[in-house]
Amino acid sequence: MSETSYDLIVIGSGPGGYVAAIRAAQLGMKVACVEMRATLGGTCLNVGCIPSKALLVSSEKYAEAMHGLAAHGVRVGTVGFDLAAMMGHKDKVVKDNTAGIEYLFKKNKIDWLKGKGAIAAAGQVTVTGVDGVKTYAAKNILIATGSESMPLPGVTVDEKRIVTSTGALALASVPKTMVIIGGGVIGLELGSVYQRLGAQVTVVEFLDRILPTMDGEISKTMQKVLSKQGMQFKLGSKVTSAVNDGAQVSLVVEPAAGGAAEKVQAEIVLLAIGRRPFTEGLGLEKVGVKLDERKRVAVDHKFQTNVPGIYAIGDVIVGPMLAHKAEDEGVVCAEIMAGQSGHINYDAIPGVVYTWPEAASVGKTEEELKKAGVQYKTGKFPFSANGRARAMNETEGFVKILADAATDKVLGAHIVGADAGTIIAELAMAIEFGASSEDVARTCHAHPTLNECVKEAALAVDNRPIHI
Ligand code: FAD
Ligand code: NAI
Repeated sequence: MSETSYDLIVIGSGPGGYVAAIRAAQLGMKVACVEMRATLGGTCLNVGCIPSKALLVSSEKYAEAMHGLAAHGVRVGTVGFDLAAMMGHKDKVVKDNTAGIEYLFKKNKIDWLKGKGAIAAAGQVTVTGVDGVKTYAAKNILIATGSESMPLPGVTVDEKRIVTSTGALALASVPKTMVIIGGGVIGLELGSVYQRLGAQVTVVEFLDRILPTMDGEISKTMQKVLSKQGMQFKLGSKVTSAVNDGAQVSLVVEPAAGGAAEKVQAEIVLLAIGRRPFTEGLGLEKVGVKLDERKRVAVDHKFQTNVPGIYAIGDVIVGPMLAHKAEDEGVVCAEIMAGQSGHINYDAIPGVVYTWPEAASVGKTEEELKKAGVQYKTGKFPFSANGRARAMNETEGFVKILADAATDKVLGAHIVGADAGTIIAELAMAIEFGASSEDVARTCHAHPTLNECVKEAALAVDNRPIHI
C-alpha cells in the first residue's frame, strides 16, 4: 500500500470521525482523517459541548458564590467576575482537549490530512489544503462532516451582535439585554450563562413549550425553574425581522399563529433554532450518494450509503445531534467495516441539558408512549424528599420512571435536578440491559446520594416508595 493509499479515510474529526478513526486503527486498519479546521475535535471540542460546558461551570460557580453559599454559612467578600478570565479558562480547556486528539492520532498512527476533503469517486478522496489539491485512495470512506447552525430568513448573522452559538461562546462583554431565538438546548444553556452574569435574557420560542423533544413535564418544570432564575419566555412566537444598527438589534416578534406584531430591542441576539447537516463541497451529487428528505446523508443500519464503500455517521445522518451518539456510531461503523457485527440501541441514548438544575432524559417520553398506545406505569420521586439534596440545598426537581404496565420493563426516565446528567446514566444502563423497575428498586443505592431518588422513583412505580 503506498503512502497515499489507506484502508479508511474519515472526512471530519468531530466525536464521530475521530472516534471512528481510532477504533479502525485499533482494529488494524491504515487510517487517515481529513479535517479543514485548524484543530481536531469538530464542533464538539472547538465550538460546542466543551467550551459551552466550561462557561456553564464558571458561571455556575459565580452564581453559587452570589446566591448559594450564604445558606451554607459560608461568607465571602464582594463577589465579582472577570469575563476575560472565564473566556481564557474556556480557551485553555478547548486547547487541551483538541491537542489531546492530536496526541491520540499520533499514538494510533492516524494521518491528519489537513484541508477540505471531497469524494472524487468511490475509493478516492481529494484534499484541498495550503499546498494545493492532493488525491488519496481508500478502500472505505467515512463521511463524518457534522452539522452547522440553521439560518433564519430576516435574521443576518454577523457573529458580533447577531450570533450563533459560536459567537455566543466568545462575547467580549456581558450584554444588558439578550434575545434568544429558539428555546432548545443551545438557547437555554448559553442563555443561562449570560443570565447568571447579569444579562436580561428573553427566549422567543415558536412552539408553545420549550425543549419540545423532551418529556412535557420536564419542559414545564424547566420553564418554571428558569423563570424563577430571571429568564423570560415568549412562547408561540416567531421573529420576522432583526435590524442591526451596530449598537442594538430591533426585532419584530409575532405570534406564531399570526396576529399583532411587537417590537423588541436587544444588545445581542442569539439564533439557536436547530442545526442542519453539513455536506457542502463534498461532491456527493457527483458520486451519487443519496440524501434523505431533510438533506441528511441516507444510510442503512450498517451506516452504508447507497454507494458501496462510502459510509456516514454522526450529525450528518438521521438521529439526535449528540456527541455520544456520533461516538457510538463511529465505533460500531469501524467494527462493521472490520467484518464484526455492531449495534446501537437508539432507545438508550441519554440527552442532557446542562443548565442548573440539569434536565436529563433517556428512552420514551410520556407523549411518545401515549401516541404509540403503550400502557405504562409512572413512578416519581422529588429531590425535596432526599436527604443529600437537602444537605446540598438543591431540592428542585424530580426523577420520573416510566415502565411497561404489563412487563414492568423500564421504557423511559426523565430527571430535573442537580447532576441529573450524571444520575441518568444508571437508567440508560437499565434500559440497555432491559431491566424492570423492580430490578432498579432492588439495586442497593449508597446513602446518602442523589441517586437514591432513582431507587425511590422505581419503588414508586409499584406505589411503595419509602421516603414519601
Ligand atoms: P462535528 O463535531 O460537527 O465535526 C465535523 C467536523 O468535520 C468539523 O470539524 C468540520 O470542520 C469537519 N468537516 C466538515 N466538512 C469537511 C470537509 N469537507 N473536509 C474536511 N473537514 C470537514 N452534544 C452533546 O452530546 N453534549 C453537549 O453538551 C453538546 N453541546 C453542544 C453545544 C453547542 C454550542 C453545539 C453547537 C453543539 C453541542 N452538542 C452537544 C452537539 C455536538 O457538538 C454534535 O452532536 C457533535 O459534535 C457531532 O459530531 P460529528 O462528529 O458528527 O460532527
Ligand atoms: P434545538 O433543536 O434543541 O432547539 C431549537 C428550538 O428552536 C426548538 O425549540 C424549536 O421549536 C425552536 N424554533 C425553530 N424555529 C424557530 C423559529 N423560527 N423561531 C423561534 N423558535 C424556533 O436546537 P439548538 O438549541 O439550536 O441545538 C442544536 C443541536 O445541538 C440540538 O440538536 C442539540 O442536540 C445539540 N446540542 C446539544 C446539547 C446538549 O446535549 N447538552 C447542547 C447544545 C446543543
